[in-house]
Amino acid sequence: MKDRIITTEFVEEDVTIEGSLRPQLLSEYIGQERVKNNLKIFIEAAKSRGESLDHVLLFGPPGLGKTTLAGIVANEMGTNLKITSGPAIEKPGELAAILNSLQEGDVLFIDEIHRLNRQVEETMYPAMEDFAIDIIIGKGQGARSIRLDLPRFTLIGATTRAGMLTAPLRDRFGVVNRLEFYTEKELSRIVTRSCEVLGVEIDEKGAAEIARRSRGTPRLANRLLKRVRDFAEVQFDGKIDELVAKVALDRLEVDALGLDQVDRNILLTMIEKFDGRPVGLDTLAAAISEDAGTIEDVYEPYLLQNGLIQRTPRGRMVTKRAYEHFGMKMPQE
Ligand code: ADE
Repeated sequence: MKDRIITTEFVEEDVTIEGSLRPQLLSEYIGQERVKNNLKIFIEAAKSRGESLDHVLLFGPPGLGKTTLAGIVANEMGTNLKITSGPAIEKPGELAAILNSLQEGDVLFIDEIHRLNRQVEETMYPAMEDFAIDIIIGKGQGARSIRLDLPRFTLIGATTRAGMLTAPLRDRFGVVNRLEFYTEKELSRIVTRSCEVLGVEIDEKGAAEIARRSRGTPRLANRLLKRVRDFAEVQFDGKIDELVAKVALDRLEVDALGLDQVDRNILLTMIEKFDGRPVGLDTLAAAISEDAGTIEDVYEPYLLQNGLIQRTPRGRMVTKRAYEHFGMKMPQE
């Protein structure tokens, strides 16, 4: 098969490292049923009309399969995929070069699309809407604008923060999909499938244990699986069962809810330093020396989803469940 992944200067880590575990077709993709079923219809309709697929916006926490879905869309459409990211495109001219290199129907995936700078974003509008860009040639009095026609392409934009997209950009996407955390059952199936790809033996309980501790995120499930496999091969007989998974995950300091050291640090800081009172994001970030945006995008969604913290008008608060997780009693009001 032709290598459909062409990259610009930006290469997302797991495109190369976890590439082999990525499903290539919708039929191989586990979970995100709503998004998958919708895309299936839009792809089929576009193909039967001989058109390119409308632009797609995917948003949600990291690691849920946005890049994977972009690859699948390109495969299903029988076109190429080009991957870049918002911050990697610094000037309108760079965007023009990328767009001009596309072939009819190609998929352009832009990760962190909320981080496109304003000039580049404004160049994107006519590209998305009319498949054309206006390029300014020359300077001052002699400057003139020429219109460059582009092949019809599909932009797949990905962002962890849909709220940070400007309205004109958001409105130019014909398909907008939110990715959700995966259920333990879905993650179990993903881990089992990955084991088939990697040639690793695993039983149902072993897969369930890894799934349970993967924070609803396939990227993490596959990463943990690879480390558990290392323990299985070196300290056991190579097969993964519940005991092997438990021993390995404990050694990796991933706890029973899938929380890692940073998650625990967040919760324990809220409990111990702030006595469980509401705390603002920036204050919390400073207290644990972590970037506020990273807390908001990467850590908080899972803690919120699992009822370990809650958002109140006065700030973030830990819940009773968080105290219980650490075997602590919640202080009375
Ligand atoms: N590997 C990573 N994500 C996956 C998914 N959603 N389905 C199947 N395999 C995967």
